[in-house]
Amino acid sequence: MSDRVFYLTTPIYYVNAEPHLGHAYTTIVADAMARWHRLAGDRVWFLTGTDEHGDNIAQTAARAGVSPQAYADRISAAFRETWRRLGITNDDYIRTTEDRHKKVVQKILQTLWEAGEIYLGTYGGQYCFGCERFYTEKEIVDGKCPDHLSPLTYIEEENYFFKMSKYQAWLIDEIQRRPDLIRPERYRNEILGFLRDPLQDLSISRPRTRLEWGIPLPFDDKYVTYVWFDALINYVSALGGPGDPRYETFWPHVEHLIGKDILKPHAVYWPCMLKAAGLPLYRHLNVHGYWRIGGGKMSKSVGNVVEALALADKYGNDAFRYFIMREMVFGLDADFSEEALVARLNADLANDLGNLASRASTLIVNFAGGVVPAGAASPEDRAVGAAFERAVRDAGAAMDELAFHRALAAIWEFVAVVNRDRAGAVPARCGGEDPRGAWAYR
Ligand code: MSP
Repeated sequence: MSDRVFYLTTPIYYVNAEPHLGHAYTTIVADAMARWHRLAGDRVWFLTGTDEHGDNIAQTAARAGVSPQAYADRISAAFRETWRRLGITNDDYIRTTEDRHKKVVQKILQTLWEAGEIYLGTYGGQYCFGCERFYTEKEIVDGKCPDHLSPLTYIEEENYFFKMSKYQAWLIDEIQRRPDLIRPERYRNEILGFLRDPLQDLSISRPRTRLEWGIPLPFDDKYVTYVWFDALINYVSALGGPGDPRYETFWPHVEHLIGKDILKPHAVYWPCMLKAAGLPLYRHLNVHGYWRIGGGKMSKSVGNVVEALALADKYGNDAFRYFIMREMVFGLDADFSEEALVARLNADLANDLGNLASRASTLIVNFAGGVVPAGAASPEDRAVGAAFERAVRDAGAAMDELAFHRALAAIWEFVAVVNRDRAGAVPARCGGEDPRGAWAYR
């Protein structure tokens, strides 16, 4: 056991859509990281869960003719079941409708209220119900929401505001002082660019006349908490909040893993919220890119969502996991296609790894009585040993840099070394007539 501690979180997923490839990617990457740290003997806590409040969910539930809670129960259970089937080893599963979460959110709100960090003000602006946020003139595209491309609604209302603007200089300083706080660098630069403009205060409430489905503000129950303010706190509430031994153990080591779509709330709102509440900032914000399909955006509104489970079931969990970890360069976008998946599985798994396993077991059975031989190492054995050590070293370094594709490539270099015959040539085809042998994917 090392004395290192590793607390890793995924975003908590909205319960207005069934789990898909995008959610599965983040959760599988988190799972690989958690397993890697457990292997190293670290004390690991791995959290995922669901984000269940807000306009979006209230509206989706209303359309389905059920209560928001019933709707949230169903989809949250679907996420949980998906993670079980994908072999995800999370230690906890937080739902924002749980009491343990609501309590911590209200406690933090009350603390901020008493500290004068929150005030009542009026705000008018262009609002997108899909995104559950106001858009500034600069962000609006052709009068429409830049994300949903749907018309915005002008709304004016009294709301509570968090004094986020006063933390702007502190935040810039923090990001500059800790170059890998937000990584990879492209996302750090994006946030520093965004912070060149003045930071606004953050509206953190919604009047109950408009939205009932949320956590009531502890100091004014005519309002519920803005969904992002509620959701971000899950990372703390799942540990029981400040004062809880689990919080004290894990919070100082927290690593967040998110997709690039939710960079701003995590890189701007959340650090300011933590600072105002007197809680330490996360160690790293690890940001990955987007899976695209046919070069286009993958989203439920576009309708080309890949059913992650279906492909994992069709090709097997490990094969599916191998593909998405190997194919995407962490931080960049990647294209998903079933053809690419099959091509990789055939080349890397069936041919390279499958044949290695097949040949090695045949040799062991035929020439060593079914037992892995021990004893004097030949020069070939030593070369294989050295290649193995290199693979472990390179894969480890790549894992630490979140370069999962390189970690796998390093392991496959080892596979290639072992597949080479004594003369150093890679057999063109090692599995008999059909290169895919018993591991055919198609
Ligand atoms: N509920 C918020 C997050 C709150 S965290 C305090 C949310 N939920 S979501 O259901 O929309 O999930 C967004 C996340 O799903 C992304 O950040 C990413 O992790 C994952 N992905 C969704 N679509 C994706 C792709 N097309 N590609 C890769 N990952 C994507 O936002």
